Amino acid sequence: MFDSLPVLPPDSILGLAAACRADPNPDKVDLTLGVYMDETGLCPVFDSVQKAQRELVSQEKTKVYMPPTGDAAYLSGIRTLVLGAELEDHLGNRVSAVQTPGGCGAVRLGAEVLHAAASETTVWVSDPTWPVHIPLMGSVGLQFRTYRYYSPELQGLDFDAMLADLEQASPGDVVLLHGCCHNPSGADLSAVQWQQLGSLLAERRLLPMVDFAYQGMGSGLDEDAGGLRSVLASVPEMIIAVSSSKNIGLYRERAGAVIFIGGDDRAAEAMASQAVAAARRVYSMPPAHGALLAGRVLSSPELRQVWSLELEQVCGRINGLRANFRDALVTATGRDFDFIVRENGMFSFLGLSVEQAGRLRQEQSVYMLDSSRINIAGLNGRNISRVVEAVVSVL
Ligand code: LMR
Repeated sequence: MFDSLPVLPPDSILGLAAACRADPNPDKVDLTLGVYMDETGLCPVFDSVQKAQRELVSQEKTKVYMPPTGDAAYLSGIRTLVLGAELEDHLGNRVSAVQTPGGCGAVRLGAEVLHAAASETTVWVSDPTWPVHIPLMGSVGLQFRTYRYYSPELQGLDFDAMLADLEQASPGDVVLLHGCCHNPSGADLSAVQWQQLGSLLAERRLLPMVDFAYQGMGSGLDEDAGGLRSVLASVPEMIIAVSSSKNIGLYRERAGAVIFIGGDDRAAEAMASQAVAAARRVYSMPPAHGALLAGRVLSSPELRQVWSLELEQVCGRINGLRANFRDALVTATGRDFDFIVRENGMFSFLGLSVEQAGRLRQEQSVYMLDSSRINIAGLNGRNISRVVEAVVSVL
């Protein structure tokens, strides 16, 4: 049966991360995969998570299945984290949530619910977007169109073009947004732009679906949620895909959640029930460990406090690296690299060609994606000058 089955090429992100791991050069630099790395180059376990894990391991008495919707403490913590207590209270039972295997699971279950409600709907995605969005949602059967987003000429968001393209969307279409720390560009909407977008979505009766994988890694937990919260002042419905991979550092534990906001209580219940049924068709119930840890971190005042401070440090370090990298590039080239400090989160486009990115890998063992997206958090005091020299050598 499988004799002529084609062997697929490696994933565009994971394949390059693997190529870097396999590179024997001791001075190699990995700026590929979107994982936070500390000054020593390690993707660390948060202290708050270590503490929650010690507690969990000493107290856990069963490995029985999780409920289909997931861990109640985790879901409650995530809802409040994303919506804020006031908005959550205001929306009441118009909000439902289902725990998922990571943010990908959340995007997928969100897509399943969209397809169940309106199989012909078109999803508008930013150009560019995270390369996995389209296969992840498209394999459910949804159709896509793109809206202009990042402009290499502006070295940032082209908001007018974004609005102009979304003006072409039909009522009932879905707009996939990045809640903060746009992946791959790092270019985000300002608070005013989020409000303008909310008005357009309401006017044209478009449904926002927000991929919210980086809350707290741009400007702060509430600041980063400001955009989607302000859109919710204008529109009655929303789907939010949440990941606990980055901001709680639970990558391999696959902890995430999909939040549904319906026009009324019944709609919110229907959306969650559809998500649970879709999960049952594919993987049955969510994994436990990561969500149980995050649930403890978010619900314990003490752990929550430790975690918030840890996340602030992560965010501060990324923003510090952005400034250092900008300064070093300006010194080396005399050119303007201010766009690096205007962006948020871990990602930035260096504006190099596929060929230049390839040469950096082959000649210098500096690994970035073909699009020249780099993970800023992969920079550190030991490799930053080497990266700057390497980039200058191909410019
Ligand atoms: C990335 O964009 O590098 C991350 O979101 C990790 C992934 O799964 O692609």
